Amino acid sequence: MKKLYIETLGCAMNTRDSEHMIAQLNSIEPYTLTTTVGEADLIIINTCSVREKPVAKLFSEIGVFAKFKKQGAKIGVTGCTASHLGKEIIKKAPIVDFVIGARNVSKITEVLDKKHAVEIDTSFDESNYDFSDYRTNNFKSLINISIGCDKGCTFCIVPVTRGEEISIPSSIILKEVQKSVDAGVKEIMLLGQNVNNYGKYFSQSDEVTNFTSLLQSVSRVEGVERIRFTSPHPLHMDDEFIEEFASNPKICKQIHIPLQSGSSSLLKSMKRGYTKEWFLNRCEKVRAKVPNVAISTDIIVGFPNESDEDFEDTMDVLEKVRFDQVFSFKYSPRPHTKAATFENQIPDNIASSRLTRLQARYYEILEEIMHSHMNEEHLVYFDELKSDGMVAGRTDSGKLILVKGSEELLGEIKKVKITKTSRMTLIGSLV
Ligand code: SAH
Ligand code: F3S
Repeated sequence: MKKLYIETLGCAMNTRDSEHMIAQLNSIEPYTLTTTVGEADLIIINTCSVREKPVAKLFSEIGVFAKFKKQGAKIGVTGCTASHLGKEIIKKAPIVDFVIGARNVSKITEVLDKKHAVEIDTSFDESNYDFSDYRTNNFKSLINISIGCDKGCTFCIVPVTRGEEISIPSSIILKEVQKSVDAGVKEIMLLGQNVNNYGKYFSQSDEVTNFTSLLQSVSRVEGVERIRFTSPHPLHMDDEFIEEFASNPKICKQIHIPLQSGSSSLLKSMKRGYTKEWFLNRCEKVRAKVPNVAISTDIIVGFPNESDEDFEDTMDVLEKVRFDQVFSFKYSPRPHTKAATFENQIPDNIASSRLTRLQARYYEILEEIMHSHMNEEHLVYFDELKSDGMVAGRTDSGKLILVKGSEELLGEIKKVKITKTSRMTLIGSLV
């Protein structure tokens, strides 16, 4: 059997794109996955270009793979960096056999035998494409509900690499959900760059729907026990959605609400469409309805023109919301984005010290939050066997928890009492 080495960088959508590519390859000829480059017949690097660092790493990585690959093995570069660099990749690294953009993953089987094929059309419509089935995790399914993004945040390269937003018809999504539960999956993660914009634009269907009604339809599928989604845009978090989030018992009480900045004037130049007050109001509303909700966020520091006062606004939101998880980044100027042309880019040392301060405070808050869970009882869905006789799972609120046990626990949802807490993990015992 042929062997595939696939490296997936970046977000959950890339993880799903990798699964789609594996599924398409397998539909033609079965591949087994390998973690050793030297034994692979096909090497795929599924790239991310949201920040500069992973892009810079790509070419050194191609060099390493070229050195260790076996004779005749092919190398493909896919994902967001493929979308925006296109044939430049082959020019710079002719050892690369093909390049496929983040919106063209269904083309994987077509390019295999074409030397130096480049498929990066960002207007290509994969929203109705019926992908074959493949899942990395037997217990949880990632399911795309839209492709692309039409928000055009001034810092973000995603609209350039993934193209305009198109919703996937609900019939296709529900079919994927059904296939998942038929395979024994209990948890569904709905994916999109801006999930609560769902239903705004379909390419071929005249369906009238929105994200809230999609959540209702998914929760009606028998066998679905947990629903998560990532990410909603704070601007589109309307009251109807918050009501559904709060009242639907199948929707996990964990929500990622990307803040980006706490400063209303920076939010304006980021073109986020909301203010600090709106963001705080949405979080308060969610907390009022769901007191135990876990809220996570993304924050960028050092965006052009960020003053000390702007940064204090971000710190203020951190204090007020007390996020359960913060993904924080130094602003990284990206090609084809408006913000990269803004004057007053922030010096690296200032951005670094702001990032350090933000992360230090976040960790303090996190430690307090984690400690407050001591002795609580939570329902945990177990999905991974660890070493030392431990099994890992997630609480409804998305916290990682380890419990002594064996593989019989895998795929089960059980009540667990928390007996020990640390900043990143909870330890518990079955009740
Ligand atoms: N809409 C997606 C966001 C995709 S990008 C979602 O909601 O999940 C993921 C995160 O990367 C963004 O939320 C932002 O915080 C960060 N990011 C995007 N562009 C960036 C840039 N140019 N520099 C630093 N961080 C960036
Ligand atoms: Fe990027 Fe903003 Fe869309 S962060 S993915 S342009 S919502």
